[in-house]
Amino acid sequence: MFADRVLSGMRPTGSLHLGHYHGVLKNWVKLQQQYECLFFVADWHALTTHYDSPEIIEQNVWDMVIDWLAAGVDPSQATLFIQSKVPAHAELYLLLSMMTPLGWLERVPTYKDQQEKLTEKDLSTYGFLGYPLLQSADILIYRANLVPVGEDQAPHLEFTREISRRFNHLYGKEAGFEEKAEQAIKKLGSKKSKLYTELRNLYQEQGDASALEEARSLLNEQQNLSLGDRERLFGYLEGGGKMILTEPETLLTETSKMPGLDGQKMSKSYNNTISLREDPESIRKKIRTMPTDPARVRRSDPGDPNRCPVWQFHLVYSDENTQDWVQRGCRNAEIGCLDCKAPVIDMILVEQAPMYERIREYEEDPTLVRNIIADGCEKANKLADETMRDIREAMGLGYS
Ligand code: TRP
Ligand code: SF4
Repeated sequence: MFADRVLSGMRPTGSLHLGHYHGVLKNWVKLQQQYECLFFVADWHALTTHYDSPEIIEQNVWDMVIDWLAAGVDPSQATLFIQSKVPAHAELYLLLSMMTPLGWLERVPTYKDQQEKLTEKDLSTYGFLGYPLLQSADILIYRANLVPVGEDQAPHLEFTREISRRFNHLYGKEAGFEEKAEQAIKKLGSKKSKLYTELRNLYQEQGDASALEEARSLLNEQQNLSLGDRERLFGYLEGGGKMILTEPETLLTETSKMPGLDGQKMSKSYNNTISLREDPESIRKKIRTMPTDPARVRRSDPGDPNRCPVWQFHLVYSDENTQDWVQRGCRNAEIGCLDCKAPVIDMILVEQAPMYERIREYEEDPTLVRNIIADGCEKANKLADETMRDIREAMGLGYS
């Protein structure tokens, strides 16, 4: 509703690997330069599936934050915080639960999928059913309009949009809404009032999405509107009532093109990762022993890079010249697999070196990270409280 705001969270899985780096973290680093960004550790979400192992959470939280920082997530550009240190997330989760149809939660596809997949875990809890609603609270409490997540999270975003629409529908009504909205239009000044009304008609009569867009940016440029009028005018564009909560958009994160060492997706559970903290000797060893095209039994057997996970690494790391060299050398059996792997090792080591260094600095002085997070939590608490005030009021809890 206001300026663009990006929010994303990660469950505390401990130290991260190159798959996270090339998928999520590089994207965060790019986003923090373009938008106001909030990135947080979803530690409560970890408890929805691991409520019986609380002892692993804390170390995982700090290790993960250190890896974010090492990868270039910058606390001077983005706000970094921990979910459980912003208790308003829980308050909003509770309030939203009042109006959340049970069937909506039961129908979120990840609910049944995960229960079927993770049979070794007890997932028939209230907390696990509520996982997507807690995620909605995370997003809606900051009125974030852009949420970078992977494809697996798309159903949770769709669910969040539905919750936000339902909330606005239930609580965005006020006595005399239309009159108040018309009053607010007048406050825009004659030229802008006219433009607003024209754009609103274009959208409502012809469904012209670009008119809606234009009207929204017109409102975003208004400095002197009160919060109430702003919500009315945004809501009035689309009909209904006030827009108290913002419907978030998914910013789909492209899945990392880099596979794990065995060619499958890089994942801790497949034991095929290179972690951001991997020491150089271990990186060399892991790449040297990586499987290659099985057809190349001997050095003189020609191979096909398309059947080789090492080639996927070249696609991520190598320039065109090197890629041509791999293609020709492999297909004509002019190079050995160890020759082929050497530039990959070099590139990973070059990429890793500054991260490795920064991780060491943060590990040596834990107060650095503690301070960054304390700062971020303070900012996040302030932002969350602003929205909570409107929400409490809308739900009849505005008294003191
Ligand atoms: N469920 C997300 C995941 O597993 C983590 C998450 C929690 C999140 N709350 C969020 C992501 C809010 C984006 C926005 O990846
Ligand atoms: Fe794979 Fe390179 Fe060996 Fe070809 S030469 S099989 S691409 S490691």
